[in-house]
Amino acid sequence: MISSLIRSDLQNFQPYRSARSLYGKGMFMDANENSFGSAVENGVDQELNRYPDPYSTDLRNALARFVDVTPDTIFVANGSDEAIDLLIRLFVERDEEILIVEPTYGVYRVAANIAGVKVAGFSLSADFSLEMSSLLARVTPKTKMIFCCSPNNPTGTLLKSQDVETICKSFKGIVVVDEAYIEFASRASFVKVTKEIENLVVLRTFSKAWGLAGIRVGYCVANEVVVEYLNKIKPPYNLNRISAKIALEALRNPSKMLDMKAAILTERARLAKALADLGFTVYPSEANFLLARYPGVGTPAKRLAEEFGIIIRDFSTQPLLKGCVRISVGTSEQDDLLIKSLKKIL
Ligand SMILES: Cc1ncc(COP(=O)(O)O)c(C=O)c1O
Repeated sequence: MISSLIRSDLQNFQPYRSARSLYGKGMFMDANENSFGSAVENGVDQELNRYPDPYSTDLRNALARFVDVTPDTIFVANGSDEAIDLLIRLFVERDEEILIVEPTYGVYRVAANIAGVKVAGFSLSADFSLEMSSLLARVTPKTKMIFCCSPNNPTGTLLKSQDVETICKSFKGIVVVDEAYIEFASRASFVKVTKEIENLVVLRTFSKAWGLAGIRVGYCVANEVVVEYLNKIKPPYNLNRISAKIALEALRNPSKMLDMKAAILTERARLAKALADLGFTVYPSEANFLLARYPGVGTPAKRLAEEFGIIIRDFSTQPLLKGCVRISVGTSEQDDLLIKSLKKIL
């Protein structure tokens, strides 16, 4: 049973009872809000003087319809970064560890460090594929949680469906699959697989394909027991009213997201070719960025920033990534400017 994996001291945890978790309707005189209104008028939410729904019910319902699961299997977070932090704090005891597949998104390690739990790193192969049997051999009795990022940041690679299912079945702890970039991938999300596999948690976000990084809304889809406990340990009002409304608005009309996604995929292919023509080794990407190895000495990241004001991410000091930069796919104009500037540097 999944609840036995929850940290022992949290199993009977009594959550903070926020005012709005007790009463969601009525004339509110219970939360020391400002009954006269708010100091700012805006077009998104006219009740900024009131605390938000602690469980983001409308947004969860809309998300549930969108990804075809039930609302009780969705936890909405202040960015998926918050969900990563809460998942580690919910499951991993001080003497246990998380296992991460590197190179990958840096927040898993940082969140574990902050929570005071150990991190074991397993390296992808040189071609960025995952050697399954070796990964499973790294699991020890202390391993409580495995993070897999798919498509992976920064390599852009997608995990095989078979591999995710094998990890979930062979490993008795929690498997977190971070799908921040899944909308750009050639394969569907694992969200629905959470219905059958109780130790699988899938992370999604509005920050990438939806173009809403600024509102900080992420979510995870998981077994309802996991969601119940995440709701117990989260900050009382983790998602603000404006962000919840904007995310809801986005879900009402996904066509803008789908149009942007299509444009990004076209531009990804064009940018990949242009970089390859310049001599870069460009790795196949299933995300909205490209990992590319510079043909010259070092990387051009510093010169691009200082001489052209173009900012890309330098990964050259990370294992397996010597000479590599990660470039987010831009608009055609931005990509043209990048290529023109790189030509000058080269
Ligand atoms: C793999 C991965 N997961 C999660 C995040 C963070 O997402 P959010 O903005 O929802 O916190 C990022 C952001 O770059 C990411 O690359």
